[in-house]
Amino acid sequence: MKQKIALIGFGTVAQGLCEILINKKNELAKKYNYRYEIVAVSDLRFGVVYNPEGLNLKRLLKEVKEKGKFIKDRIDWNPVEMIEKSNSDVVCELAYTNLKDGQPAIKHCETAFKNKKHVVTSNKGPAALAYRRLKRLADKNGVRFMIEGTVLSGTPVINLANGPLAGNTIKAFKGILNGTTNYILTRMEDGMSYEDALKEAQELGYAEADPTNDVQGYDARAKVTILANVLMNVKLDINQVKCKGITKITREDILEAKKKNARWKLIGSIEIKKDKIKAYVKPELVPMTHPLAGVMGSVNALTITTDLMGDVTIVGKGAGKIETGFSILTDLLAIAKNS
Ligand code: HSE
Repeated sequence: MKQKIALIGFGTVAQGLCEILINKKNELAKKYNYRYEIVAVSDLRFGVVYNPEGLNLKRLLKEVKEKGKFIKDRIDWNPVEMIEKSNSDVVCELAYTNLKDGQPAIKHCETAFKNKKHVVTSNKGPAALAYRRLKRLADKNGVRFMIEGTVLSGTPVINLANGPLAGNTIKAFKGILNGTTNYILTRMEDGMSYEDALKEAQELGYAEADPTNDVQGYDARAKVTILANVLMNVKLDINQVKCKGITKITREDILEAKKKNARWKLIGSIEIKKDKIKAYVKPELVPMTHPLAGVMGSVNALTITTDLMGDVTIVGKGAGKIETGFSILTDLLAIAKNS
């Protein structure tokens, strides 16, 4: 059976997903018996399109690149109507992250669940601000709420902890959780200015629509909140996570650290000791001998402290068009496997 997908948002992540789906169509069918159609897409800039038999993805990509809008298959729906009226069985929420109140993405997730549609998202708003409530709603309606792409893009953190590591109690997390800031710190060490490095990170598709969220540590704070609620089953509010970004770090600080054989890294951490939660995001001076010091560019790393396996560390790309596109694919495949 073909999976029918509706996309909310047609920015970097959605376009990355479409490129993968086009390039790997035959491989996915052959290897995993995975067949799909994107039936509906809604984007604030490009418009809304629908074809119950499946949209032509190459054409959609071409239209937005050349004309800056969708041309064929247009329909006069808002995103909520698209979720309710399209024949999709999975909704991918790939619009911009709003960490203030999570809207309109939370509304999109609720509408999908009430209409018995699965949600796959890389949007950190719903996962950081309303995970527990949304998961209950998904469970009640017999559908899945999949969020691999919200932490470390396609590097499998959520699915690793819920899958192969299931049975462990997770006691702590610590790592580099934001690609943009790690990229900026790396490029500043190469000699680039903060402004140019940020511009490059934006061009490469790493940064949030509003990069303040990256450089002030808010994006990493959202990820710490997600890890606590989703994988540690700890009720942690985003405002309980102490947060400091990298905006005060100068090139001089970076060179000074180098002389001391160390590197500045934006670290996100959460641990539970005697039922007390300690969660923070802040720049830390990491000695070169520490494994996190060698994690450079848009690569992220996360150490998961477990009771049965001790420390398990995963290192991989934390941001990017194809990497986050892949995070969506991995959840789509998991849903198809269980359908
Ligand atoms: N802006 C985010 C980052 C994207 O740089 O890590 C991935 O969540």
